[in-house]
Amino acid sequence: STLTQDELKTLVGQAALQYVTPGEIVGVGTGSTVNKFIDALASMKDQIRGAVSSSVASTERLRALGIPVFDANEVEALSVYIDGADEIDSRGHMVKGGGAALTREKIVAALARTFVCIADESKRVDVLGRFPLPVEVIPMAAAQIARRFAALGGTATVRMREGAPLVTDNGQHILDVTGLQITDPLAFESDVSQWPGVVTVGVFAHQKASVCLLGTAQGVQTLRY
Ligand code: A5P
Repeated sequence: STLTQDELKTLVGQAALQYVTPGEIVGVGTGSTVNKFIDALASMKDQIRGAVSSSVASTERLRALGIPVFDANEVEALSVYIDGADEIDSRGHMVKGGGAALTREKIVAALARTFVCIADESKRVDVLGRFPLPVEVIPMAAAQIARRFAALGGTATVRMREGAPLVTDNGQHILDVTGLQITDPLAFESDVSQWPGVVTVGVFAHQKASVCLLGTAQGVQTLRY
């Protein structure tokens, strides 16, 4: 029997529970795969102290299930951060931000010793850039940032929601950039992060995955980087 993408997400969401240490606070990402993890985490809610969340959406889901959510400023370090990805390469570099939560995701990931990526196999790529790269920007800088991406061969468009620019949890806009081939993710992340008006670029190379739990037709594969 073949598993649907939704079933693969459920499998990896459940598999991520093995990385949750009783007595600790766990870092929680955002997205449809993480939602499966949050639902599974509810079964451990009496064993953990709580979570640090990367979005309003995940915070609401955690709280609805009775899992306490801590502010990131209350936490000095996390053992583990569990999140999905839009793309992951063979070295654990990722593109994230399809759900517009990339800035808080990078902040919570930076608190964690271990980044556990949970993804179905459709997210595996050889070179990052197939998925339109999300970049959170200060609105007044959007046009000049789009021109810089054009100079790299990319096409940047402001992400819209109901006829107006999408506004992130942080009050900013998202550019989605197509046409890039990100062959050196570390250098690319460093460069773009310096451009005035860039809040967060959706390349996670400095905060790459330590482990990926990949949902495949053969079951959950564990990849270490
Ligand atoms: C949220 O901003 C993203 O980084 C998500 O982690 C990413 O889009 C994966 O989401 P899905 O699990 O829904 O594919």
